[in-house]
Amino acid sequence: MDKNKKRILTGIQSTGTPHLGNILGAIIPAINMSQKKNYESYLFIADLHSITQIKNPDILKKNTYSTAAAWLAFGLDYTSSVFYRQSDVPQVTELAWYLSCYFPYSRLALAHSFKDKQDRLKDVNSGLFNYPMLMAADILLYDANLVPVGKDQLQHLEMTRNVANRFHNVNGETFIIPEAELNSENMSIPGIDGQKMSKSKNNLIDIFLDEKKLKKQIQAIKTDSTSIEQPKDWKNCNLFNLYKLIASNDQIKNLKANYERGGFGYGHAKQEFFELILEKFSKERSEFDHYLNNLDVLDDILKKGANKASETAEMVLARVRKKLGYN
Ligand code: ADP
Ligand code: TRP
Repeated sequence: MDKNKKRILTGIQSTGTPHLGNILGAIIPAINMSQKKNYESYLFIADLHSITQIKNPDILKKNTYSTAAAWLAFGLDYTSSVFYRQSDVPQVTELAWYLSCYFPYSRLALAHSFKDKQDRLKDVNSGLFNYPMLMAADILLYDANLVPVGKDQLQHLEMTRNVANRFHNVNGETFIIPEAELNSENMSIPGIDGQKMSKSKNNLIDIFLDEKKLKKQIQAIKTDSTSIEQPKDWKNCNLFNLYKLIASNDQIKNLKANYERGGFGYGHAKQEFFELILEKFSKERSEFDHYLNNLDVLDDILKKGANKASETAEMVLARVRKKLGYN
């Protein structure tokens, strides 16, 4: 690794097509970071994490492709970063096993994300429970310095640092201790119901949908019952908040004025939001379609990324195996 560069690493689960929250909260910030001179980036699709929830191989595959296509559509430069599918570098599961033998069961049981999933999901498997150890392995296997994530992932990052330190206490310095890079700007993008947008909550906006389906999704954004004629409270309007995330200052000013004037209904505002998405993401929408129509191109890009990632993985694992007496 170039000593003057910091290595950033982040992953996104392939549990569906990335939605507006994933794009603004994770994909765009990570791509921006990867373009900085002093950074080297590892970006991957966490398809091994996805199997905790998705058991249908065709759906899993399809989601992995659409996740990859979304990253590329938003301008990820796969030649200067290492862009790969987690399952293409299976060494990560070996490291996850070692790490899980260095981390107390009782600490895993305290993970917010596990507790939340335990309450919501039907299939509460032990992969879900051990999820943070696979995530720690994702990070430690590649000597990452910085991990850009949303707030919800901070506890997983703490566990990663903690398990690395526990390992060090027994075996001596082995891993780079990573730091979380919290993206504060768009910390929690609301979904169409006003709660945090999430694939598992059925409240998302998928900007890659065809126009008809996208329109339907936008029409489903929850608004209050103020009539068309009355002025509207933009400060407490979820639709306005969503619009604001992607609109220019002039467009925001304009919509604000329309809300305050009255005679402008939520239907009109939804139409404006719909048109704004089409206009703002027109290039990304067509690139996304292009990749999904050329899966061989996607496979080739991901394979090349996996080859690069494997080199680092083998080097770090050799270090770990030696410490553990497996070499
Ligand atoms: P989901 O909750 O939809 O399943 P993931 O857990 O796969 O999303 O999250 C992938 C990345 O996107 C993470 O870095 C996460 O913090 C970020 N993210 C997810 N939902 C949002 C949101 N509503 N607002 C901002 N960032 C989000
Ligand atoms: N758990 C992360 C999420 O749901 C995805 C992820 C898996 C990840 N491995 C990672 C993020 C490693 C950062 C680093 O968002």
